[in-house]
Amino acid sequence: QTVQNGSFEWSAPSNIALVKYWGKKENQVPANPSISFTLNNCKTITKLSFEKRENNGSFSFDLLFEGQSKESFRPKIEKFFERIVQYLPFLKDYHFTIDTQNTFPHSSGIASSASGMAALAMNLMSLEKQLNPQMSEEHFYQKASFLARLGSGSAGRSVKGKVVIWGEHAATDGSSNLYGIPFEGAHEVFSDYQDTILLVDKGEKQVSSTVGHDLMHGHPFAEQRFAQAHENLSAMKAALSSGDLETFIKITESEALTLHAMMMTSMPYFILMKPNTLEIINRIWKFRSDTNTPVCFTLDAGANVHVLYPENVSSKVLDFIKNELVGFCQNSQYLCDKIGTGAAKL
Ligand code: PMV
Repeated sequence: QTVQNGSFEWSAPSNIALVKYWGKKENQVPANPSISFTLNNCKTITKLSFEKRENNGSFSFDLLFEGQSKESFRPKIEKFFERIVQYLPFLKDYHFTIDTQNTFPHSSGIASSASGMAALAMNLMSLEKQLNPQMSEEHFYQKASFLARLGSGSAGRSVKGKVVIWGEHAATDGSSNLYGIPFEGAHEVFSDYQDTILLVDKGEKQVSSTVGHDLMHGHPFAEQRFAQAHENLSAMKAALSSGDLETFIKITESEALTLHAMMMTSMPYFILMKPNTLEIINRIWKFRSDTNTPVCFTLDAGANVHVLYPENVSSKVLDFIKNELVGFCQNSQYLCDKIGTGAAKL
């Protein structure tokens, strides 16, 4: 099959890890397995246009972000193409225009690498499928996650929903270091789980995730941490299946604090929380014990707080957030999101 030119457009969401990926080996192989909720509203939308050209041994692409030329993305995309060209040999046969936008405000402190790399991988797979029309649906999504992972590890978890496991775990669960797989059989309490993201600090990340993962090499607690992630993943899977919110909350919060503890105890060391992050955590704990509401927090490698809760307590939790937590957000900003189903072709 030859394809001269055309375009595709995909959206891909961000995701929030419950058991965290922190530390990796060669070729974007995670040091431990992780599990995440795929989000619904925080997305990257990418249009990929392509035109056949003479292969001159290098990549050829233009980059647009929200309609404007964006040369600062070039090194990242160039590196991504170099990593994946062995799996997509057609990459040098086309000139690409990669036109991207996010549904969430930029410099909100929400990382767009997971959604961005997943959206680009989906588009590239659409071209791959046009060149190889016999490809199965299963192979299409598996390879999309495989490619996204090579762009940004956690991006491999943004292809599908609603709950995704990435990283070898149990021998029989189908999990892989190379791509994410959907976790089936989550209890219905999780089917519409809410994530309200409190924007505590919208600044540039203090520590890139590349530097962060590297800090786990030679980290004094690395081996215990990787073993703990396996245990927490087993317990989390059981809690997700049975709808055991108490266990879900315990593991989710412990994982967030452990991620930050790893950064505080590495060399060099970092504190990525802000005073308002701690204020929010303490208020969530007080609200939970005062009202018996199953609400908890998780954190990424930054100061923002993800507030997680079931849909049936939303109005109560949103009132609490508006009354007590919004004051700790930068410019009172927060984003309402929830669990979602993954990438979509537009
Ligand atoms: O995908 P990366 O390399 O940006 O790493 C993401 C790491 C965390 O977001 C902190 C944890 C996770 O599992 O998503």
